[in-house]
Amino acid sequence: MQIVSTTESSSPADAPEDGSVQAVYPPSPEFVAQANAGPELYEHADADRLKFWATQARRLDWDTDFDQVLDWPDAPFAKWFVGGKLNVAANCVDRHVAAGKGDRVAIHWVGEPGDSRDITYSQLLDEVSRAANYFTSIGLEAGDRVAIYMPMVPEAIVTMLSCARLGLTHSVVFAGFSATALRSRVDDAQAKLVVTTDGQFRREKPAPLKAAVDEALGTGDDAAESVEHVLVVRRTNHDPDMNWVEGRDVWWDDTVAESSPKHEYEAFDSEHPLFLLYTSGTTGKPKGIVHTSGGYLTQTSYTFHYVFDHKEGRDVFWCGADIGWVTGHSYLVYGPLSNGATEIIYEGTPNSPNEHRHFEVIEKYGVTTYYIAPTLIRTFMKWGRTIPDSHDLSSLRLLGSVGEPINPEAWRWYRDVIGHNRCPIVDTWWQTETGSAMISPLPGVTATKPGSAMAPLPGISANIVDDDGNKVAPGEQGYLVLDQPWPSMLRGIWGDDERFKDTYWSRFAEQGWYFAGDGARYDEDGALWVLGRIDDVMNVSGHRISTAEVESALVGHHAVAEAAVIGATDATTGQGIVAFVILREGIDTDHETLISEMKSHVSVDISPIAKPREINIVPELPKTRSGKIMRRLLRDVAEGNELGDTSTLVDPTVFEAIRSQRS
Ligand code: WTA
Repeated sequence: MQIVSTTESSSPADAPEDGSVQAVYPPSPEFVAQANAGPELYEHADADRLKFWATQARRLDWDTDFDQVLDWPDAPFAKWFVGGKLNVAANCVDRHVAAGKGDRVAIHWVGEPGDSRDITYSQLLDEVSRAANYFTSIGLEAGDRVAIYMPMVPEAIVTMLSCARLGLTHSVVFAGFSATALRSRVDDAQAKLVVTTDGQFRREKPAPLKAAVDEALGTGDDAAESVEHVLVVRRTNHDPDMNWVEGRDVWWDDTVAESSPKHEYEAFDSEHPLFLLYTSGTTGKPKGIVHTSGGYLTQTSYTFHYVFDHKEGRDVFWCGADIGWVTGHSYLVYGPLSNGATEIIYEGTPNSPNEHRHFEVIEKYGVTTYYIAPTLIRTFMKWGRTIPDSHDLSSLRLLGSVGEPINPEAWRWYRDVIGHNRCPIVDTWWQTETGSAMISPLPGVTATKPGSAMAPLPGISANIVDDDGNKVAPGEQGYLVLDQPWPSMLRGIWGDDERFKDTYWSRFAEQGWYFAGDGARYDEDGALWVLGRIDDVMNVSGHRISTAEVESALVGHHAVAEAAVIGATDATTGQGIVAFVILREGIDTDHETLISEMKSHVSVDISPIAKPREINIVPELPKTRSGKIMRRLLRDVAEGNELGDTSTLVDPTVFEAIRSQRS
């Protein structure tokens, strides 16, 4: 393995203008004094990992206590909290009402067109009970699957919780996905019910949504045979041509809303499947990742409490993810609600009606804890600091980042401009498969480094190893593995045990480790840096170089707002580094000069071996609806190939812009 330079904080380009580079950010004494976490959390976990997890599990209410923490002889098929029974929804709703907290707001919902609703825990209990009663009345039984294809409306969360309450396994499909994607997921899970809305607001315009369900479910010979009902929430009231299948389609208003708000829950086994969430693999059809109840809720609940330093009754939490992704499941639904949190659910995009939207919401609701993806931070940087600067963000006390490596430049900007150098940042590494946060600083305990996820959380064990499974030396790149099972681990791929074993457990089968598919390294101080997917690691003349590191270096150049880097096939060097960059607003230096500056900047920042062969200045980058840059497509552009599948892109026309830039 090649040693990749670790000059992340000593690079001149990252230096603030006053020259005061700060490599490490210790927590402030004020934060430490009030933090939920202390260093003893690591000590307890290290002393007896299973006992530690048993303690965390007991933060939940169990109807029947578990008698074994972990059952692992049948690895990689885990059972956590064996013998225990609980109801996930009752843990998220009923127990807060029973404890006299029914009047607390669970959800401040903010609709895109400016409408809003505040929903208390008591009201949430009523809604969840109504939906549970209706679902029972149409014959759904524990173990049946329900597909949820909805924008960010409160009914989406009500539906998820009602499924949990009845032991129905939900499968949320992001409402930006196509009818084809929905159909394949409905078929794979054999869903009996699809819950949707008539339409959704996107960038201030109502767009039909049920129409996509009709298209997905088909008719006649082509009909999705598993689906018995389609339940429709009225959201936009704006689809005059809406199709209606008598007997199959029902309005929420006529059914759920008319049902009784009283419902007795039943407890389910700790290993009862809670949800499926489909995620794309490197090849083939999407994988239905299976999560179960007790272990999943234990770890989402635990991480929410400690990683976000949650203070019940005081904090207002906002996670900017969509419920269509795992972040939305764990930190919009199960983590916050199991802790009795008050949170924001925002329906729209960050620039509807304008770029002030997020900051207005923070100001209006006094948001204390804000958890978003680096791509949004870089977008804010592109829009400029005058926008956040024109708002009172003093309620914020903790910031989080998730979804991709955060480059030190964006980290510092986030800390300075959004957090006013007051708020700790938690950079949380995890995956759909891991269910909850795994590697992250603990606020009030960890001294953080910009761009590093720092260390596995208490109770979690990770390692960075080479091809043979040996731990790599500091500075060297290796594979990130999880060498001990964890409570919210995936329990499998729906209907495909072989693929489950093959994808995650075969790479280090001998050792029995989970292969995360990410590259990582330790620095000299033992801090852990996640470098991005292995498939995004380039090999140039035998040197391993992470696309994320080159991107980070490029974004460290003053003119660059965002960068995407790919390894394009090169006859001489194996791969050549090709970069696509978006400039910041107001840069008018000629492109040739800028490109040569950027190349030498990367050379200095990382190493001459990381210098891009080609840099393209482009107006947009192709992104999936979850905000991930589609590097595969950029590779096609760079290599002059036919474009691969563009169906998951937000805006397929960006390619014309990129191509015209290159010609
Ligand atoms: C990447 C999202 C670096 C990583 C929760 C992982 C990150 C993939 C981070 C999972 C982070 C997520 N730093 N990389 N803090 N968080 N990733 O399944 O490559 O949508 O494997 O889960 O995102 O993406 P997923």
